[in-house]
Amino acid sequence: MAMDPFTWSHWYAIGRLEDVPEGGTRKTRLLGIDIVAHRSSGEVTVERVEDHAPLAVQERYGHVWTTFSDEPKPLYDMPEFDEDGRRLVTAGCVTVRCSGLRAVENFLDMAHFPFVHTGILGEEDHAEVEQYCVEMRADVNEVWATKCRFYQPKAAATAEGGQMTHYKYRVPHPFSTILYKTCPIREGAWDLVGLFIQPRDEDLCDVHSFVLVFDEENTDTGLLHFQQTIFLQDRMILENQVPALLPLDPRRELPTRADASSIAYRRWLKENGQSFGVLAEEAVG
Ligand SMILES: [Fe+2]
Repeated sequence: MAMDPFTWSHWYAIGRLEDVPEGGTRKTRLLGIDIVAHRSSGEVTVERVEDHAPLAVQERYGHVWTTFSDEPKPLYDMPEFDEDGRRLVTAGCVTVRCSGLRAVENFLDMAHFPFVHTGILGEEDHAEVEQYCVEMRADVNEVWATKCRFYQPKAAATAEGGQMTHYKYRVPHPFSTILYKTCPIREGAWDLVGLFIQPRDEDLCDVHSFVLVFDEENTDTGLLHFQQTIFLQDRMILENQVPALLPLDPRRELPTRADASSIAYRRWLKENGQSFGVLAEEAVG
């Protein structure tokens, strides 16, 4: 298995808080290793199945997180979770047969909106992706894409009619990505949509998603349903990508301007020595 220190150094979401209820047990898998989570007297414990070694745990952003590392990189900060008036809706996990890195890359790609999320996040008459900015933030070791603009017929569960939506994307972790999009009902505010990806194996992942929004109108079920509709459309695309692992060699897949964030993401993974979920170099023909 292609394990590397960068992959090993992170915290991973392994389920929502409510997926590990009092007295309950959640068996799952992370980075090719079977683990089990259990909650008793309110506390969650996670251990490796093979040798019962206890792992570090934290409950944050509506999810249970764990790591195999003795000196993990701190879990990235999302100060929006402390803001008043926002609602958190967690969608629960969807298992996808592909590298978790593929799921991040797909999430960053606006060019697929008109064709995959037709009538919701895009439409074929407005398929052009305008130039946007991509930056690597060295101080925090994150990738950001900013000043993204895209015409969307129904940008969010609250949106009525089409609008030019403004986006920012953040990649603070090889298997996490957060989208900040213009809030349709509160000027100057951003709504968050994010993926916490749990790589079960190199070519298999559980995608935990959330929305953190200002919204007084939709029910949790309505917000959840909107997210699930979008993500199930993505799953079909992801499971059909060949190869299932992500190639990092820039010659492997043809870049276009809309792929600027994908190029930056792949370069960032390469610079950080990512090999888990990556197509091995020698396989590149
Ligand atoms: Fe999508």
